[in-house]
Amino acid sequence: MSNQSRIYDKTLHSKVMSSEEAAALIPLGASVGMSGFTGSGYPKDVPLALAQRIMQAHQAGQDFKIEVWTGASTAPELDGALAKADGIELRLPYQSDPASRERINKGQMEYIDLHLSHVPQFVSFGFLGKLDFAVVEVTSILDDCRLVPSTSVGNNKTWLDQADKVILEVNSWQSEKMEGMHDIYYYTRRPPGRQPIPITKSDDRIGIPYLRCCPDKIVAIVETNAPDYNTPFTPPNETSWRIAGHILEFFSYEIKKGRLPENLLPLQSGVGNIANAVLAGLNEGPFNNMTAYTEVIQDGMLDMLRSGKLLSASATGLAFSPNSLAEFNQNIDEYRQRIILRAQGISNHPEVIRRLGCLAMNGLIEADIYGNVNSTHIMGTSVMNGIGGSGDFARNAYLSIFMTPSTAKNGAISAIVPMVSHVDHTEHDVQVLVTEQGLADLRGLSPKQRAVQIIEKCAHPDYRPVLREYYERALKLSPGKHTPHLLEESLSWHLRYMKTGHM
Ligand code: COA
Repeated sequence: MSNQSRIYDKTLHSKVMSSEEAAALIPLGASVGMSGFTGSGYPKDVPLALAQRIMQAHQAGQDFKIEVWTGASTAPELDGALAKADGIELRLPYQSDPASRERINKGQMEYIDLHLSHVPQFVSFGFLGKLDFAVVEVTSILDDCRLVPSTSVGNNKTWLDQADKVILEVNSWQSEKMEGMHDIYYYTRRPPGRQPIPITKSDDRIGIPYLRCCPDKIVAIVETNAPDYNTPFTPPNETSWRIAGHILEFFSYEIKKGRLPENLLPLQSGVGNIANAVLAGLNEGPFNNMTAYTEVIQDGMLDMLRSGKLLSASATGLAFSPNSLAEFNQNIDEYRQRIILRAQGISNHPEVIRRLGCLAMNGLIEADIYGNVNSTHIMGTSVMNGIGGSGDFARNAYLSIFMTPSTAKNGAISAIVPMVSHVDHTEHDVQVLVTEQGLADLRGLSPKQRAVQIIEKCAHPDYRPVLREYYERALKLSPGKHTPHLLEESLSWHLRYMKTGHM
């Protein structure tokens, strides 16, 4: 026990042990639900000790792998270490670690990419099999085994409820002033007993600020002091400012038309640099008193909270750069009143997203001329990260916006292609497509009308003529004229890139 132990429930003191001793409790083949969402709130020491143990087992000629379930992406100490140790048999539901990605794409690791809101219910329905262990980071343990969550909630409630055995990491690096920021809802039932989720405003609190866990299940508590994976964002460039500009102009137009209120509707902003740049644009734009019902709070949203443009933000995790984290910790008493961290089954709940009328803004890898979107796969077969919560929001939002630079890899790749090489969001879930070239409003348009808008508004000028030419030939030669395609050619752009390095 450390001198400044955060384990205030004395009945649990006997369970404190080293990370090596805790990792030794996890058997070969176990399914392990780990905390962690977008580089925050993940266990830092037990996964490293487990990776070490797995490497030793491999050196001794033993096969040792586990299943790793998380909230979303974690960090090098978890995904990276376990992947490098060849210790992961199966991973779900979202990852973004280079070592893990490499193994998945080499066929050495199974990966199930799920809608993030589906994970907790699939586990409680029994769809994914039994959960053997939970390894969950908390900020402190209060009396009566009340657990103060840390910088993300993710699937922790589900892991603690469903796992046979629980290992807790109590991380004293996390601010104790996080207490009170979380809202954990304990009344979700399985059908047919389900009741409405009583959130009618994005900042409603409907639960309690603690996670609960039956003390008998806790087999180990490890005290840690280690930082989250706080990485800097790339400052917005010309391309992302232009994308942001198109979206701001569109929102203003929608207000003028009476289709959006002056303070917009609750914002959902996806992961990555473009999403962060759009938030920077909103922070400088004309809208005030905005709210957010989203999955992750990145720097851009914290800046909006600080400036007062954003009144409150609901999410399941924080993903800050080191500078923003310092500012957050300095003013945490105020942020605790305005930030609510919920379980991902609630932050991404389709019912709530539909009721609140979220404005969903997500990144993409490629879109096709009919508006189908690929968010996850490079050249159709290699996964990048995963669908994350983009599908939860896109299908249920008031408005579903997807955004991307019009080209990738210095112009060698067009983000607008005849046919996407993998589909995550169908044409039915995409209302607005934006690149730095312009914004295509696809609402109320047929497939052929959409194709014209997307090619003329979103495609890069270098690719526009070839896209037009493809579309016009498809109009003449396609056997079906509803969604005209030349099937022998529709994926030829990807094949050409793989052969020549240029589309
Ligand atoms: N073909 C090949 N590579 C492409 C590509 C394409 N059509 N489009 C982008 N890329 C590459 C980029 O070159 C870049 O590669 P690099 O890391 O080697 O430089 C990488 O993909 C990321 O692209 P970038 O333009 O920096 O985008 P981003 O950081 O905004 O991320 C997604 C874009 C789609 C990968 C990201 O938004 C994502 O993972 N989305 C799915 C999950 C999601 O939407 N979650 C939010 C829900 S709340």
